Amino acid sequence: MSKRAYSWRDLVANVGFLNWLFNPLQRSDVRSVYDLLLDQSPCERTRYLNLGYWEQAQTLDDACDALVRLVGERAGLEPDDQILDVGFGFGDQDLLWWREFHPKRIKGLNITASQVAVARERVARQELTQQIDLQLGSATAMPVAAQSVDVVLALECAFHFRTRERFFAEALRVLRPGGRLVVADIIPLPLVDAGRARWMQRGTWTLVASKFAIPKENAYPICPYQEKLAAAGFGQLRVESIRDQVYVPLHAHLRTHPEILARMHPLLALAVRLALKVEAKTLFSGLDYVLASAVKPGDA
Ligand SMILES: C[S@@+](CC[C@H](N)C(=O)[O-])C[C@H]1O[C@@H](n2cnc3c(N)ncnc32)[C@H](O)[C@@H]1O
Repeated sequence: MSKRAYSWRDLVANVGFLNWLFNPLQRSDVRSVYDLLLDQSPCERTRYLNLGYWEQAQTLDDACDALVRLVGERAGLEPDDQILDVGFGFGDQDLLWWREFHPKRIKGLNITASQVAVARERVARQELTQQIDLQLGSATAMPVAAQSVDVVLALECAFHFRTRERFFAEALRVLRPGGRLVVADIIPLPLVDAGRARWMQRGTWTLVASKFAIPKENAYPICPYQEKLAAAGFGQLRVESIRDQVYVPLHAHLRTHPEILARMHPLLALAVRLALKVEAKTLFSGLDYVLASAVKPGDA
């Protein structure tokens, strides 16, 4: 088979990836990061962009589905629920919640226009546009009426929001009394006391935060996280770390499944390959991963 000619589009993409991944001074906007990843799909049968929940999963697609299911189960999704899903990526999570939990309606908000277009087309192909309404919009300024939804979900995206606290306030506003919020989120681990390990923790967090457009206002560990949910007005708080079922098993899976890297842009695959040379314990030493749930006070 003859090779495709190198185009201007390839050149622009390569410069974009080089700048994003290897320029230490580059601070990318969240939309430009996801625009770069528009044609990249590390998964095989889905287009998820999350790290997955690996308790039982054997593939990346299954691990991503498992994380979506975990969030749905923690939210106790029911057939009468009106869901607001923020940061929906390419919409896979909404299709799964729809299929498996049969809620009344899902409205989605995503700040990246290129993803919204693809996700809307995927939903339309399944003839679900009446049930799953995916729109361009921000989790920090929701075009949603007060007290109009039963559940707010944010799957691996709240770390991007400017700021996560504004999102908590917005979630409280749009939820009905008794409504539930569930967030799967990346945060820093509390720093160890001193020495090389502390330096490494700071370094790994700073690298992730700079590459993935995480504002410094969102860099606080699990205890303040819970306090900020409470300060926003939420009750029945449950915030737990699920990091052991995320980072280490993902790292092991990527090391033994080069076909996943082969699905990425070559420059991204190179960066991931270099990162995988570092042991998981070190590579993720600064990163926690939490599953958080909370309820808006008042009678449903
Ligand atoms: C890591 S991706 C996760 C996507 C999807 N939840 C998944 O698991 O495949 C983060 C998502 O958050 C979205 N996002 C970032 N900031 C946002 C904001 N302020 N409001 C809504 N969505 C946002 C991005 O466009 C992207 O779709």
